[in-house]
Amino acid sequence: MEHKINELLQKLSLDEKLAMVHGAGLFRTGGVERLDIPAFYFSDGPHGVRAEFHNSKWIAVNQNDDFVSYLPCNSTLASTWDRELAYKSGYVLGEEARGRGKDMILAPGINMKRSPLCGRNFEYLTEDPYLAGEFAVQIIKGIQENDVSACVKHYAVNGQETDRLMVDTIADERTLREIYLPAFKKAISEGGSYSIMGAYNKLNGSHCCEHKALLDEILRKEWGFDGTVVSDWGAVHRTKETAEVSMDIEMSVTDNFDEYFFANPLKEKIEKGEINIAYVDEKVRNVLRMMYRLNMLGEDKENRKKGAYNTPEHREAMYRVAADGIVLLKNEDRKLPLASKIKKIAVIGKNAEVMHAYGGGSSEIKALYEICPLMGIKMYLGGNTRVCYAPGYLIPEKKQEGDVNWQQDSVSAEALAALPVPVSENDMTDTDEGKALLEQALAIAKECDEVIFIGGLNHEYDVEGNDRASMKLPYGQDKVIEALLKVKPDMTIVMIGGAPVEMPWRDRAKAIVWAYYAGMETGNALADILFGKVNPSGKLAETFPITYADTPTAKNGEFAKPGRIELKEGVFVGYRYYESKEVEVAYCFGHGLSYTEFSFSNFEVAEAENGKLAVHFTISNVGERAGAEVVQVYTGPANAGDIHPVKELKGFEKLYLEAGESRDVTIMLSKEDFAHYDCEKKAFVTEPGEYKLMVGVSVQDIRWETKLVSKGTIQ
Ligand code: BGC
Repeated sequence: MEHKINELLQKLSLDEKLAMVHGAGLFRTGGVERLDIPAFYFSDGPHGVRAEFHNSKWIAVNQNDDFVSYLPCNSTLASTWDRELAYKSGYVLGEEARGRGKDMILAPGINMKRSPLCGRNFEYLTEDPYLAGEFAVQIIKGIQENDVSACVKHYAVNGQETDRLMVDTIADERTLREIYLPAFKKAISEGGSYSIMGAYNKLNGSHCCEHKALLDEILRKEWGFDGTVVSDWGAVHRTKETAEVSMDIEMSVTDNFDEYFFANPLKEKIEKGEINIAYVDEKVRNVLRMMYRLNMLGEDKENRKKGAYNTPEHREAMYRVAADGIVLLKNEDRKLPLASKIKKIAVIGKNAEVMHAYGGGSSEIKALYEICPLMGIKMYLGGNTRVCYAPGYLIPEKKQEGDVNWQQDSVSAEALAALPVPVSENDMTDTDEGKALLEQALAIAKECDEVIFIGGLNHEYDVEGNDRASMKLPYGQDKVIEALLKVKPDMTIVMIGGAPVEMPWRDRAKAIVWAYYAGMETGNALADILFGKVNPSGKLAETFPITYADTPTAKNGEFAKPGRIELKEGVFVGYRYYESKEVEVAYCFGHGLSYTEFSFSNFEVAEAENGKLAVHFTISNVGERAGAEVVQVYTGPANAGDIHPVKELKGFEKLYLEAGESRDVTIMLSKEDFAHYDCEKKAFVTEPGEYKLMVGVSVQDIRWETKLVSKGTIQ
């Protein structure tokens, strides 16, 4: 292949080379017809294949041929803790992208959830680098199986939307190595991603798309990446500095394609001898290599996979992800599942009927369909049950969109200067309309046998370009929930939203279900869980703090500030912080309930081949229903002090068991799973001493622990 690439390179003129390294449309580069090199087509990502846009305008083509499967958002997917479902989800995404004629899908989004308020958290997987890496690998493999490139994003440390194009994120080496880089490393070295997206933000003073250490040293040299680096749309700021690092394709949001930094400005500098053509050749080589891998070039061109979209198999897979990813947070007195023979049921809350596919920013989807919770419940119960719906709270009319598409607008100076709008502004419960809605909801709740409240967030809040200003529920929902709990203390509460919210009423609620945005099959999956056809098995892949004030970013004030943020909490992100500093949380990392019960026995750890450790145990489903449990393995130094987290996830397995079934299970760990990054040695080091190995069903619910002694290793 390398030989063929070099041969092709010889034949290309400078203009032809440049055509391949920058946008010639909003979602494509130029091809070279003369040499049969096709244009390269991109699409967002990550929750399906985005609607078709005009080549040079942010206006949807608006034909009726680009409806697609709407996948559960990455937060739902991560809550499945099921690698096979991650692969399936990637497969659907890749097959649909290919079916729509795309060469690259701009997914998966794997940034660490550093603060619950980041507007794009719903697009990301988790707060844990190991879990993110494991999922990224599977998603990427699934995508690329279809002759479509994944583009793992946003590299790196892209953790806030405020001032997203310019903010300078200050992070120390250890924090980068332990928290923010491992998932990207795995995506490249194990997932084999053909592409990676350079993030908008700066890291330690330098824009990610011109960051020598990130791109040349770490990505190319250390991790051996030989695919393409694509800039986020509008993330390139200068010609020479970007051309002279490993950034291959410049994409942006404006239609002046010839004026992109990698177009005429780069040509000029090359012709004047200010930039060596070898830099461009290397970029073109990377692009051609990717094209060969995708069978866009070469002997297998005729056999390139053709993809498919909207297949019944895709819908089935999306249903499974939704059903496995919805999390049962609380179930006092076995309130759930609800009986399905019921005369009159109240469904209250606007999120019962809101469709979420079309929102959120670049991950918006033109869904073939989306079954909202209300429809799912009605379809499940059928005509003999009266389902009384009331919105319960008022969502104010959306402000009129401007003439310019948000995506183009998002790089304007005004947009960059804008700060998030405080959510409390949207409390409408004191308006006449708001009061009337609450009255109506209370009246309905009183006369029904069961009440399900379905609220949460929507893409006004979980949205690209804006961070949330607080963790409170919008539209005064807390007041509505409190009022409803007074008349129906046993009501079930369902939350739909992309990131944690404060739930001040949670101690008084009997049952709480968290669904994120679970895709086109949301309503079916949710109804199946509420009424017991499906036994819930989702587990949180992020911590739900009690209040925002409890979070590390609230304590250090280093979030959602324009200009510069310092990751002062270091490696103490998510549960690493709450566990180590003993801060109480609402629902911990790894938490999620089931309608059955599991017990464990025969724990032991043994040395295995190649310096591995085998953690053995027997798991039994001792309840009356089939179900799944996610067993999680954590490690930590016995004396972590202030330096190391007390627990870090290093292994997990989702196990499906019939009622009464027992199974012997082994989870493998490696000795490196006890190591920490040593900045002086520039390596992961396991210091000599005692370590804990803990096996549990959440970070707090540890069922067995043992101590191990290490003599010390350096990797
Ligand atoms: C987003 C990317 C997205 C790109 C293309 C950017 O605004 O940050 O995630 O892939 O646009 O739509």
